[in-house]
Amino acid sequence: MLKLENRVILVTGAARGIGLAIARRSLLEGARVVMIDLNMDDFESARELLHEHESRMVLKACDVSNEDCVKELFVELKDSIGALDGLVNNAGITRDNLFMRMSMEQWQSVINVNLTGTFLMSRYACNMLRKSSAGRIVNLSSVAANGNPGQANYAASKAGVIGLTKTLALELARYKITANAVAPGFIETDMTRAIPDKAREAWISQIPAGRVGQPEDIADAVVFLLSDAAAYITGTVIGVDGGLGL
Ligand SMILES: NC(=O)c1ccc[n+]([C@@H]2O[C@H](COP(=O)([O-])OP(=O)(O)OC[C@H]3O[C@@H](n4cnc5c(N)ncnc54)[C@H](O)[C@@H]3O)[C@@H](O)[C@H]2O)c1
Repeated sequence: MLKLENRVILVTGAARGIGLAIARRSLLEGARVVMIDLNMDDFESARELLHEHESRMVLKACDVSNEDCVKELFVELKDSIGALDGLVNNAGITRDNLFMRMSMEQWQSVINVNLTGTFLMSRYACNMLRKSSAGRIVNLSSVAANGNPGQANYAASKAGVIGLTKTLALELARYKITANAVAPGFIETDMTRAIPDKAREAWISQIPAGRVGQPEDIADAVVFLLSDAAAYITGTVIGVDGGLGL
């Protein structure tokens, strides 16, 4: 049986990388998927890749860090689709710099997207999720939540996501909504391809599993958390990192 048949799943940052892999796996498991990203141009190749599932996917432009945009998105979804079973807060950015050189803009932009975006999307999704018999929130944290040189902004945002997730788990359990986080290690996407070669090699050499992760490795864990198999799991952080976080 398909794991997400008849479920409506919303994935943010779904135009590429990990978000695209999560959307694809959810479609393969029978879900109807709402894919969100910054602008429609980003979706061109995603649309081609997923064309066979066209009838079960909706692509929408929205900046998750902009409250007006998020508010409007949920008004529209309520009118057009009317139901939501799972929210995957995957949209995320990096603006790396050493702490002593980090600008306010670098700090704030990362907090705005990674942490405030997760807050806003969860906040506005709640009313629809509580009407589901299997409401799910899955947030993307990172192995960097434990601290990482050059990523004070990113590490703080991803540690914040863990605190937010655990609080959502506590507050929303009474509405049968679970909230969990997935903390990827080093995954092959545009985000990590932007890291200079020397730093990339240093990271990869530390991975106990001896290989970089693929977006599908993360999608598998997220789909598990969205499925019935994870109905009694809430407030956890699943590391999907080949042992990097140990
Ligand atoms: N790649 C890794 O190694 C890694 C490791 C740990 C955690 N993560 C996390 O996984 C998630 C996905 O990462 P990825 O590697 O696929 O990144 P990516 O940069 O390849 O993709 C991120 C997507 O999010 C979208 N996005 C950015 N800001 C947005 C906004 N304000 N509103 C809507 N969409 C927005 C981008 O347009 C892009 O399509 C992120 O939260 C990231 O922090 C990634």
